[in-house]
Order: sequence, then structure tokens, then C-alpha cells
Amino acid sequence: MAGDPRHWKLETDGDNLAWLSFDKAGSSTNVLSAEVMVELDRILDGLAAEKPRGLIIRSAKDSGFIAGADVEEFTRIKDVDDAMLLVRRGWDLYNKLADLPFPTLALVSGFCMGGGLELALACRYRIAVDQPGTRFALPEVMLGILPGWGGVMRLPRLVGPTAALDMLLTGRAVDARRAKRMGLVDAAVPPRVQENSARMMVLEAPRPRTLPLLQRLMSSALMRPLVASMARKQVAARASPDHYPAPYAILDLWQKYDGDPFAPRAEDPASVIGLVEGDTARNLIRIFFLQERMKSLAKDSDFKAARVHVIGAGVMGGDIAAWCAMRGLTVTLQDQSPERIAPAMKRAADLFKRRLRDRARIRDALDRLIPDVAGDGARRADVIIEAIFENLQAKRELFAKLEARAKPGAILASNTSSLKLADIGAQFRNPSRLVGIHFFNPVPQLQLVEVVAGANTDAEVAKKAAAFVRQIDKLPLPVKDSPGFLVNRVLGPYIDQALRMVDDGLAPETLDAAVVAFGMPMGPIELADTVGLDICLAVGKELAGEHAEVPKKLAELVAAGNLGRKTGRGFYAWKDGKARKSSSRGVPTDAQSDLSAKLMAPYLREARAAVAEGIVADADLADAGLIFGTGFAPFRGGPLNYLKEQGY
Ligand code: NAI
Repeated sequence: MAGDPRHWKLETDGDNLAWLSFDKAGSSTNVLSAEVMVELDRILDGLAAEKPRGLIIRSAKDSGFIAGADVEEFTRIKDVDDAMLLVRRGWDLYNKLADLPFPTLALVSGFCMGGGLELALACRYRIAVDQPGTRFALPEVMLGILPGWGGVMRLPRLVGPTAALDMLLTGRAVDARRAKRMGLVDAAVPPRVQENSARMMVLEAPRPRTLPLLQRLMSSALMRPLVASMARKQVAARASPDHYPAPYAILDLWQKYDGDPFAPRAEDPASVIGLVEGDTARNLIRIFFLQERMKSLAKDSDFKAARVHVIGAGVMGGDIAAWCAMRGLTVTLQDQSPERIAPAMKRAADLFKRRLRDRARIRDALDRLIPDVAGDGARRADVIIEAIFENLQAKRELFAKLEARAKPGAILASNTSSLKLADIGAQFRNPSRLVGIHFFNPVPQLQLVEVVAGANTDAEVAKKAAAFVRQIDKLPLPVKDSPGFLVNRVLGPYIDQALRMVDDGLAPETLDAAVVAFGMPMGPIELADTVGLDICLAVGKELAGEHAEVPKKLAELVAAGNLGRKTGRGFYAWKDGKARKSSSRGVPTDAQSDLSAKLMAPYLREARAAVAEGIVADADLADAGLIFGTGFAPFRGGPLNYLKEQGY
């Protein structure tokens, strides 16, 4: 029957309350496709005529409330008219929802993103189910677009400009409790009382909360320009308007047009049209799909680990162990003595406090992380990760013991950066069990993990390793066992050239500024200091050969024990985790693009070569790996995409 919705289920209870459940057909996640919204429109018309006592909108899926608009549909936008039609669809629909003459409530459990949050904002009330997965965000800015379905208008009205602009301009997510504190939801309730709480709120229909005076003042026409200009300064410190126009458009749209996407003229920077016509949104949406593709690489195996054993509690092993424990796995952490494990436990406690916040969850994560000097955990582990010194002989000896101890079917993995997997595995009884699981430093911040298949690695083992990487919420990139794999292969010659340019007399500040102007998150010299100059030296030797001449200044600094950020001094002096740079050593803007082209050349050359040599399966995956592993200018859509756009 034409009138029967496929994606929504409407029921009316004894109190004459309408319960509308969203359950997108044929999809594990609720996304707001055109069809979904047409159906909702029809349902709202029906309700407007029937006038129930109230309406409660919820999700019928366990995965969450609503993930947002259907990003797939963005890629089918052909022109500006198409784009404006898409904006119109949600804008009109949500205004209709907001105008319903009875109380409406969004009952949110799990993620509530983008267009999903805009739908919730159009309701009179919102209740969040207080559980770990509940999250609210407007991530449009990360796709280079703006929330055009009322978010820019309704969020600041509800929570005030300070908190709203923070969410709108960063895409940051807030959990149920924070949402309650900031006034984004009217209540945060435990799962078991969610339906009752929703029912009571709609039946009682309390007066919606009003904004505190200061936030009301900041929303006034008089104060808006000042508030916007302060926010603009913060945005400018992170992103230039040429590279990332969306946050600026969002600010203008709020300041001048109160969030109405149809108010600005086409040529106004606040208009959606400029964003749709530029390259940035297209490239950022491309990255969204690349990320989805990396996630799907883990789906070839249903391997699920319960226990992980990590050997080596140093910089990497310690953080890998902590990360796995935070993600719910039981982890044993082995090193040569308890004293070597202690600093890793301390770092883990700090990480859990920062990320988990809730006391019970912090305690549980700490309970899951077990110091294990004797290495007993190896017998029971599903995944064993070796992260000891970068020394072939030591690794071989260790794996000889591990292979004998590990249970059949356990993954044996090395985190080596520069040794060949085939060499580490040469003395294995069964070398097909060995795989590389190569994390990046700092582990909590970098999403990418290279999954290295050596010549002997069983394809199934590599698939299991990718599934494990996804299980701990990282992005797996399958790569071949070749020096530097993908990321260090590309970074090595790029950093090496920059270090030699310092030897030639160029200031580190000059070089770094040129690369940041290109769109990299930091320049090559600051990156070298961050990674550690001893490690740069070792990786450089591995890639260029033991006999290659080491950049002079690098050798001097390492010899003097000035290893960069971790020792407080390298090419820069470091204070509180920040490099101290002299601002007078930039270059004129016209010379800067020549310099950045020269600095980026080895990076781009190696990226191309890695694809040509089959280190990664294809150019898209190389782009994905280099964006998530090195922060390559996201608005350019990846190095190979950039080369293609440049006509290579
Ligand atoms: P690290 O020197 O900080 O830690 C190594 C730890 O291993 C030390 O605590 C040491 O006591 C322990 N260890 C050595 N031999 C052992 C043995 N036989 N049994 C138990 N524990 C032993 O080293 P880091 O930087 O954590 O590197 C570890 C591995 O990770 C290396 O293979 C390195 O190539 C790789 N890696 C390092 C990165 C970095 O940025 N530091 C990035 C990615 C990979």
C-alpha cells in the first residue's frame, strides 16, 4: 500500500501518545535518505491532523538513534540546485516537526549525529539514555559542509552560543551527561526507565528551559559580531579559510542570518553554494568513504580477541597494551622487570582518566591491564604483540619461545618499524603465523595501523589481524613487507630532505611554515623532533642503507642526547609539549609555494612509487593510509588524489 512506510513504525498508546520508531529498511544503521524523509513528512502531516497528546521519536535499532544524512546521496549531487533541494528537504521537514501543536520528544539511545541531532533539536524535548554509546554531534564541518537542516539556528538557541559554536565548529561529540549539563537534553536517564521518563515528560509538558542570561546576551544582535569574531580567531589558529571554508561559513550563517541557509545570496561566504562548488567538501567526503572502506577491510574475518599479550612495555608496547585494555580486552604486559612496566601503568591510568572519565569504567580498564614479568599471559592470549627493542636477534629469540608457548590459532605479531618480517620469521617452525601489526606513535592519537603481510604470512592470519585492529577501534591498512611499509617509506625521504636543507642553512621554522601552508598538520622538522631524532636516525639508516651519509645537524643532536620533544631539546627547544619557534623566520608568501612544492616532492614521489610497487592495493588505500597515518592535507583528498588533480 502506497501509504505504508517502510522505515518508520507508528503506534499510539492508551494515553493517546504517538510512538514513532525509526528502523531504516535494509540497513544496520539509521540514516536519513530521501525516501526516509518523504515518509516522515507524510507521517507528520497525518499526526498534525490527528493531534495525539504528544509524539515520541525513537530508534528501533540497537546500533543507535540516527547516524545523520545519507552521505552517499551527497556524492550524487550534480549541481547547486540539487544541493539546495537537499537542504530544503530537511529544513522544511524539521520546521514542520517544530511547528506541531503538541509536545514532541526525541528519545536518544546511542549515536545521534548530524541530521539526526537536527531532528532531535526540532523536537520540544530531548531525553538521552545514559550509556557509553550515547553521543551527540554535528560533524558536518568535518565533511566541509554545514548543518543546513536547522542545526545552526536551533543549537545556539538551546545551549547558548559558546557551547553551540564549539560543537558546530569542531564537530566534537558530547556524551549523555555532558549533553544534560549543557542543556542539550532535558534529562539523561538510565536505560531501564527511558520509556517511562519520555512518557512522563510529554504528558507533563514542562516549560522548556530558558538560557542563562549571559548566553542570552551573547546571542543578541549587539553581541553576535563580537562572539563570532572571537570564535573566528580560534578557527583561524587551526584552519585557513582557503583550505577549510566550512567553519567560517557556519560562523557567518549564525552571526548574520541566524542559521537560515536560504537567507544568504549565492556569492555570500555564508552560503552552502560556495561549499558545494569548492573542492574541499568533495575531498573531505571522499575521505569519509575511504575511512568506511578501511573499516570494511576488517570484515573478511569474524575473529574476535578476548586476551592480548604485549611484550615490551616501552613507548609503544606500553601504550598499545593500555589502548587494548581501554577497548575492553584483557591484557597482560610483559617486560624484563616490574620497574620497566611501572611507567606504562602510570601512563595507562592517565589515559583512562582522560578518555573514560567515569570512575567505574576507569577501574575496570585498570583491572584488565595486568603486569606480567613472567610472561604467563602468552599461553592464553588470542593475540601476542611483540614491541621490544628494534633488534633482530632479540626478536628472533623471543619469538622462538613465544611460538612454543602460544595456543594454536593465536596471532603472533611484531610491531617492528624497520625490520623485515621475513627475517624475524626465518627461524619459525611455522612462519605463516607471523604478521606485522604496526602502530604509530602516539598510539592513542593515531588511528592508522599497518597490517603487514610477509612473503610467508598466511592470508587468513592477515585478515584476522585486520579484524583485531578494527576491534580495538583503529583503522587497518594492509601493506606488503617492504622497507618502511607505506607510512615510513613516504615520511623517511621527506624528512631526510628537510634535515639536509637545515644543514644547508635554512631555518627549521621556514621549512615547517611552508609545509603547514601546504596543509600538513606540522612541518617535517617539528615532526622529526616529535617522533624522536634517534628513531629518525635509525629509520633513515634502514631506508637509505647503513653507509648513507647522515644529515649533519641530526647526527650532532643525537650524539649530544638532544632527541627532540622527549628530551626537551632537538631542532627546537620544547616546553609543555610545544616547540618554541621564532616567528621572524618565515618566508614571503610568494616564495612559500615554491618551497612547499620542493619539500613535498619526495613525499609525493614515494607515495606514487609505493602504489606502483604494490605496497598497498591501490591509490585510494594509499591516500587513506597517508591521511590517517601522516595527516596529509585532508582538504586535498590524499597525495595521489592531489597528484591526479594536478594533472599527473
Ligand atoms: P622502547 O625502547 O621504548 O621499549 C622497548 C621495551 O622492550 C623496553 O622497555 C625493554 O625493556 C623491553 N624489552 C627488550 N627486550 C625484551 C625482552 N626480551 N623481553 C621483554 N621485554 C623486553 O622501544 P619502542 O620505541 O617502544 O619500540 C618498540 C618496537 O616498536 C620497535 O620494534 C620499534 O621499531 C617499534 N615502533 C616504534 C615506534 C616509535 O615511534 N617509538 C613507532 C612504531 C613502531
